[in-house]
Amino acid sequence: MLLKSFWFATIFAIAVQGCVSSGDSPIESEHDGRILELKSNRRPAVLDERFIETYLKTFGYLRNEQENVTSEESGEKQIPKEKLQNALITFQEFMGIPGTGKVDAQTSSLMMRKRCGNADIHPSTDILALWKKSVVTWNITHFSKTIKESDFREQLHQAFAAWEIVISMDFVEVDRADKADIVFSFEDSENDWQRDPTHLTIARASGPISSRVWISADEHWGINNELEQTGTDLFNVLVHEIGHVLGMRHSPDSGSMMHPLFERSMNQDRPVVTPDDVERLRNLYNVADPQQQSAENDPANLNETSLTKCIKSIQSATHAPDGRWLVFKDDKVWQTLNHTVMTKGIEIFQVLPSAPTYVNASATVGDLMILISDRQIFGYRQTKRNGQFEPAEGYPKELHSRVLFYPEAAFPLANGSIILLSDNVFATYDLENNAPTFLNDKNVYFPNLPEKLVSGIPQIPDSDNVYWMLTDSDIYEYDARIQQILNSESLTTFFTCDF
Ligand SMILES: *[C@@H]1O[C@H](CO)[C@@H](O)[C@H](O)[C@H]1NC(C)=O
Ligand SMILES: *[C@@H]1O[C@H](CO)[C@@H](O)[C@H](O)[C@H]1NC(C)=O
Ligand SMILES: *[C@@H]1O[C@H](CO)[C@@H](O)[C@H](O)[C@H]1NC(C)=O
Ligand SMILES: *[C@@H]1O[C@H](CO)[C@@H](O)[C@H](O)[C@H]1NC(C)=O
Ligand SMILES: *[C@@H]1O[C@H](CO)[C@@H](O)[C@H](O)[C@H]1NC(C)=O
Ligand SMILES: *[C@@H]1O[C@H](CO)[C@@H](O)[C@H](O)[C@H]1NC(C)=O
Ligand SMILES: [Zn+2]
Repeated sequence: MLLKSFWFATIFAIAVQGCVSSGDSPIESEHDGRILELKSNRRPAVLDERFIETYLKTFGYLRNEQENVTSEESGEKQIPKEKLQNALITFQEFMGIPGTGKVDAQTSSLMMRKRCGNADIHPSTDILALWKKSVVTWNITHFSKTIKESDFREQLHQAFAAWEIVISMDFVEVDRADKADIVFSFEDSENDWQRDPTHLTIARASGPISSRVWISADEHWGINNELEQTGTDLFNVLVHEIGHVLGMRHSPDSGSMMHPLFERSMNQDRPVVTPDDVERLRNLYNVADPQQQSAENDPANLNETSLTKCIKSIQSATHAPDGRWLVFKDDKVWQTLNHTVMTKGIEIFQVLPSAPTYVNASATVGDLMILISDRQIFGYRQTKRNGQFEPAEGYPKELHSRVLFYPEAAFPLANGSIILLSDNVFATYDLENNAPTFLNDKNVYFPNLPEKLVSGIPQIPDSDNVYWMLTDSDIYEYDARIQQILNSESLTTFFTCDF
């Protein structure tokens, strides 16, 4: 395709050059019938003054401050030649070619390229919105008929990853479009999604806080990411559009990922996320390079982003006898006090000697802290002197064989037993005798617990009235007396990071 379009653009450019009047005003209309017919029906039929004007209007170079009309219908009202020429010069300068104000070969070939539908020039009154959260959700509503869903998803994951390494944001797919922050869809040209009378747009995107990414369903997309591939490189287009989703605008740098033209001629390299793109994005969000981040240059916006490095999802959590919480995820443990994360995630054994490599469930009764890993029960006590943890006598133990399930969650009762749960079953487990005393249906004895519970921590130690009930990413206040959830919050807002 590259080769074809290059030839196409070249032939076209030569033709245009011959066609444009050599007079002093080259964008003068030539209604002598020597107009250009283009092969593709998606392409504009003619490249005349009307087309140039439409192009300049569509992509932000030409604005009607006085008239509120920007569509072709305003054609009767003549735009002053000078204004049109200035807009053309702005376009030429943006594209990095000499600002001649004349539609020369270079200009017309650039104007024929497939491109992003977003404007290149924005009025100063345009509000720049930004995401104010670190986890942003997305959904795909319409897939392409020619690209496998799994291939598209893979390209999308890679495209998100290109920005995730620049800024601490996570992009998570959700199963409902109305709950998603970003909606992707492939659209037919009839659907009028382009808002582009030149029909050069093959993708466009709106920015924060509620984003849409439209991708042409009619385009021949290449997804091999190799030079020999045919079709427009989908990956690059996705990275570009996600740049808009993050709030970025077009860059005049032709090597930039944010350059508006997608169709490139042979001698042009593939666009990449340039250091300039990275800096622009980080400046937008006011974040420093994570590698050189220090407490002193903490901008206000860093709170949100630093949270992602703190606690956002967990596997288990329990309180220690001295009131701190131990929060487990994979082989790491965080320590928190009063909702504040005190230590970064470190390997569990660094805090708890001879600890398992992961914790499926945990609970604390009195001064005994219990961790369950598969069917092993580990016990710890805290020394009074310096608060260090040491293995409790008699542990580890094997979970009693009458508990047939592998515990996924646990919480303590006031009488010293702990509740072990898996899906809809629970066991009341007597730690002293290392045996279950009662097995039953969770929904009968503990109705309204959050789905996918992982841990329960009593708000007052060794009481069983009100608990913090935790799932992998949220925390709930649960009143066991009335068996109701009182409140809920995301872990990312519940915990603040103290470093
Ligand atoms: C343009 O639209 C705005 C608001 O819609 C209106 O206040 C203004 O008078 C209009 N200008 C002209 C020249 O029609
Ligand atoms: C995206 O949202 C739509 C509409 O809500 C839904 O039908 C579709 O299943 C979602 N996609 C995925 C992958 O869950
Ligand atoms: C960031 O945290 C500091 C205290 O740690 C607080 O004073 C500041 O208001 C926070 N900024 C934002 C944007 O939340
Ligand atoms: C936790 O916060 C409360 C109220 O803000 C305070 O009274 C208490 O001393 C704090 N506890 C610790 C251990 O810092
Ligand atoms: C326990 O955790 C391990 C490691 O994360 C996991 O593979 C296993 O499925 C978990 N067991 C249960 C019962 O959730
Ligand atoms: C604690 O109470 C539960 C039920 O409320 C009971 O099943 C369990 O046996 C009790 N444990 C002890 C150690 O008394
Ligand atoms: Zn764009």
